[in-house]
Amino acid sequence: MKKKQINSKQFLIRGIAIGIIITILIGSGIYLFFSSKEEANLLVIYHWWSSAGEAKALNELTNLFNEKYPDEIVEPILITGGPGYKLREVIKTLILAKEAPDTFQMHSTYEAKPYFDGGLLQPVDDIWKLNNLEKVIPKVVQSMCKFEGHYYEVPINIHRVNLVWYNKQILEKNDINPDELNNWEAFFNACDKLEAAGVKYPIQISSGWTAAHTFESIIASQGISFYEDWVNGKVTSPEDPRLLKSLEILKKYLTYTNPDYGDFDWWNNAIARIISGEGAFNIMGDWANGDFKDAGMEYNKDYGSFPVPGTKNMYGLCIDTFQRLKNINHPKNLERWLQLVSSKEGQDAFNPIKGSISARIDTNASKYDSYQQSAILDFLVIKYMFPTVVHGSGAPESFKFKLTEIMSVFMDELDITQTANDLTDYTKEISNEYTIVWELD
Ligand code: GAL
Repeated sequence: MKKKQINSKQFLIRGIAIGIIITILIGSGIYLFFSSKEEANLLVIYHWWSSAGEAKALNELTNLFNEKYPDEIVEPILITGGPGYKLREVIKTLILAKEAPDTFQMHSTYEAKPYFDGGLLQPVDDIWKLNNLEKVIPKVVQSMCKFEGHYYEVPINIHRVNLVWYNKQILEKNDINPDELNNWEAFFNACDKLEAAGVKYPIQISSGWTAAHTFESIIASQGISFYEDWVNGKVTSPEDPRLLKSLEILKKYLTYTNPDYGDFDWWNNAIARIISGEGAFNIMGDWANGDFKDAGMEYNKDYGSFPVPGTKNMYGLCIDTFQRLKNINHPKNLERWLQLVSSKEGQDAFNPIKGSISARIDTNASKYDSYQQSAILDFLVIKYMFPTVVHGSGAPESFKFKLTEIMSVFMDELDITQTANDLTDYTKEISNEYTIVWELD
């Protein structure tokens, strides 16, 4: 997978959006009470890692930081909500109020672009150099952390998004072999079987973004060239048979899901029901692995995973990163944090708990569970890498938000024609925002 950047014009739309926010803030006379963090021995980090596994993983890393720098205080600030959608709004408001934190959790590539385009980021080439990262971070990840030849992000992990998680006991009880669920027909047959055996909702799902997450893997299941067209903003016809087929699959998929998804979150509700055995399957990134483990389950004994049907030869990439904003309060501590985050020690402390694999190839695999050890191998041998859209990398940020909105409506209305129109209309509307050309084949 390769990425090329084309003609990086500032987005007019983004400028207007920021202008509107400023006007609203001033116009409504809102007074922002943001505390000023002047303490020299502080490091303020914003994140959305709220599930049990995620929180523990971050804790491990901040403890390590404290061991190394006992006089410094790390202040992680949690903004819960999906894959960071709420966090992003908070960060933008803080930046406008000139109260940006020292750093915040961010996905690679497109998600960093508004900050890069707005001149808010400082390069982190020095960290890459100091930690010799080009030697140990795979090229595909390198390219996702760069703009115009410079690094602006430090990756902490590699998550795989195109996975179905399952409760092993339920599948065994119903004589379902997960290895055979490698196409949609076989997968839906297994769901029928489970329903007939009394499992009311074999697939568990949560709020809109998880439907969008499922949908992007379905798109990948229709072939890497379709996914490539999708992330390059080239799926513009509502009659595109690949798009219609993907929506049909999602529609069928939703006939097996729980109707009470409302404002469910992915771990507290959906994964919890796979853990409890109320449901059998959930499509989610391998951050779910952290939560199965936290519940005391063992991979391949109590739970397991397989690639989303049709995506065996694909690794959907979701990469969490940290960055260096301009004018932060604690640059020295930020530098220490970025070094720790990108070090072998830091990554091998965080990722075994988080569920992901290290972004470094020199990782100590013995620290990881059996799912992760197979993922480390898969990452090396799998042919196609694709950047997730829902988790920030593959497509412009505005598309990601719109996709979630459209998918939330689709979950209720199941209208394929309308959805195909909404998706393609929006892609055409923001065509100038597709400034990265992905080569996935
Ligand atoms: C992703 C993020 C993961 C995980 C997940 C669920 O976007 O990259 O680290 O946190 O959201 O919250």
